[in-house]
Amino acid sequence: MGDNRQGPVYRSSTTAPVNIAVIKYWGKRDATLNLPTNSSLSVTLSQASLRTHTTASCSAHYAAHEGDSLLLNGSAEPIQHSPRTQACLGQLRSLRSSLEASDPSLPKLSGLPLHIVSTNNFPTAAGLASSAAGFAALVRSIADLYALPQSATELSRIARQGSGSACRSLMGGYVAWRAGSAADGSDSLADEVAPPAHWPQMRALVLVVSAAKKHLPSTAGMQVTVKTSSLFPTRADVVVPRRMQNMEQAIRARDFDAFARLTMQDSNGFHAVCLDSWPPIAYLNDVSRAAVRVVEAINQQSTDAGAGLLAAYTFDAGPNAVVYYLERDTERVAGVFRALLGNERVEGWEGSYGQDIKPAEMEEL
Ligand code: DP6
Repeated sequence: MGDNRQGPVYRSSTTAPVNIAVIKYWGKRDATLNLPTNSSLSVTLSQASLRTHTTASCSAHYAAHEGDSLLLNGSAEPIQHSPRTQACLGQLRSLRSSLEASDPSLPKLSGLPLHIVSTNNFPTAAGLASSAAGFAALVRSIADLYALPQSATELSRIARQGSGSACRSLMGGYVAWRAGSAADGSDSLADEVAPPAHWPQMRALVLVVSAAKKHLPSTAGMQVTVKTSSLFPTRADVVVPRRMQNMEQAIRARDFDAFARLTMQDSNGFHAVCLDSWPPIAYLNDVSRAAVRVVEAINQQSTDAGAGLLAAYTFDAGPNAVVYYLERDTERVAGVFRALLGNERVEGWEGSYGQDIKPAEMEEL
């Protein structure tokens, strides 16, 4: 809290990490409450390379007629017209208001306009899960500002309504978002399957194939898939539930071979239902496919030698590749990509991000 002549300014800052799903969320059963058709599972990446930093503040001094505001990477966002941001702010305010009602000595923050300032240290909306880190940081910073007692899992219900994948960025390590079945979404929550310390050898290489904004945002893309893909019901109802169980088992057993196979199969299954949509949705490009071939060559060498898979590619709603591997294989995986990125014959790479990213804890400033 800072004081100035016009009265106190209450302020709280936090950072939130990016998460990259290994079992993908794709499809909503309720677009207003942002309820998914299937559960999903992700690894939270270290904040050293990819994170959103957000400061939330409120004060009686802020002009009430201006209302709440959000500055994202220096530009004002029209949040008054964003039902998702409004849903998050409304629910956080109502939790604060209940606290204030039960303890009259608390300052009345729930009625004050909020100023939110947020910066990403990576390209926004380029398929690098910026909405996940963004809404997680927004919810966490306001929950801290309001001194809310809710757990990360309870807050995940709010973050989910900002952006589905954001509910998984409130926790570190290996995180599941359980689809749930309640019509009001009360059981559609994230939980930590394993903390980062359970399998700290995990690494991720983020290859930025294109930092341009993606063509078709996730929300629109998944609606088209749910409506038109004939492969989709089998993915949501049969394939993913089984894969979630197998993936949790692979993580519990620290079985990288199974983790890698399931990760690549699920990325391919997700992009298959995208291509099966009408009109078809193609997120990958030639450079993405070149990354797949590099991973396949690395794995072929390893399996030919009688060992397991060493690397796993996965792609979200864009052409950028994320490659998971274990620390002991850094040279054989990240080393090969580094050598290729420096090779002029490999065209189209805009550079690489966050090499050797580890699974992370949530950090607060
Ligand atoms: C391909 O969470 O961005 O990255 O809920 O509509 O905001 P909304 O979608 P969003 O979708 C992420 C889709 C994905 C897969 C994943 O992260 O699980």
